[in-house]
Amino acid sequence: MKEFEGKIALVTGGGSGIGRATALAFAREGAQVVIGNRNLQRGEETVSMIRKAGGTASFQRTDVLVAAEIEALVDHAVTTYGRLDVAFNNAGIEGDSGPFLVEQTEANYDAVMDVNVKGVWLSMKYEIPRMLKQGGGAIVNCSSVAGLVGFPGFAIYIASKHAVIGLTKTAALEYSAQGIRINAVNPAVIDTEMVDRWAASMNMKKDDLNTFHPIGRIGRVEEVAEAVLWLCSGKASFVTGHSLIVDGGFTAR
Ligand SMILES: NC(=O)c1ccc[n+]([C@@H]2O[C@H](COP(=O)([O-])OP(=O)(O)OC[C@H]3O[C@@H](n4cnc5c(N)ncnc54)[C@H](O)[C@@H]3O)[C@@H](O)[C@H]2O)c1
Repeated sequence: MKEFEGKIALVTGGGSGIGRATALAFAREGAQVVIGNRNLQRGEETVSMIRKAGGTASFQRTDVLVAAEIEALVDHAVTTYGRLDVAFNNAGIEGDSGPFLVEQTEANYDAVMDVNVKGVWLSMKYEIPRMLKQGGGAIVNCSSVAGLVGFPGFAIYIASKHAVIGLTKTAALEYSAQGIRINAVNPAVIDTEMVDRWAASMNMKKDDLNTFHPIGRIGRVEEVAEAVLWLCSGKASFVTGHSLIVDGGFTAR
């Protein structure tokens, strides 16, 4: 029997990168997957990829900034598949990278904090009541090594990912006794479109980013997906309020 057979998994930002890889991995392990993404075409593409591989998935266009749309996404999971067992709150943006703190703009602050922090809070706000009704569940929020250390030129993104850890720890304290384990995943540089944009904005080649990691390369989306699946699985049954680092040694220096 596959690890997530009979389970319903929700992934926000599942239209690309880490979210898409995690949606595919959940489906491969037997879950029925609900994908919420702002970009309709990319979300539908992930669904097609899952169905082509023999899995079950459904898409609902969702902007994690809009409470009613997240509520509708959770409702969609329940009306389509009957329940909600696990959620990966992954949607996020990088915002403007480069300018030091005093040159950062209010517009960038609002945009990054809204998606990365409010989006995660709103996602849990609607996922948790559903899981409480069923007697349990597991949630993973996407933080970053940027949630653990500072990095010049990224003050707002760094603050947003630290906040995700704060939300995660507090949610774990509030709901673990009622059967919901809530953890975070903290990737370093992973090969996604976000990193393509980020490297371009910094006039760097992606290969230049290899040296950030003692392991000698940037990470693959599947390597983050495996960590998320483990945190959501029964194998992590005593793990809650934790931030799991997937960083090729970045934070060990
Ligand atoms: N790639 C990395 O190096 C890295 C490292 C650490 C953490 N992360 C985090 O991983 C997550 C996924 O990033 P990625 O690298 O796969 O980038 P990505 O740009 O490929 O994926 C982000 C996804 O989120 C979606 N999204 C953005 N805003 C949204 C909104 N308001 N509502 C719904 N969906 C929205 C996008 O459409 C996209 O599909 C983000 O939270 C990011 O901060 C990435």
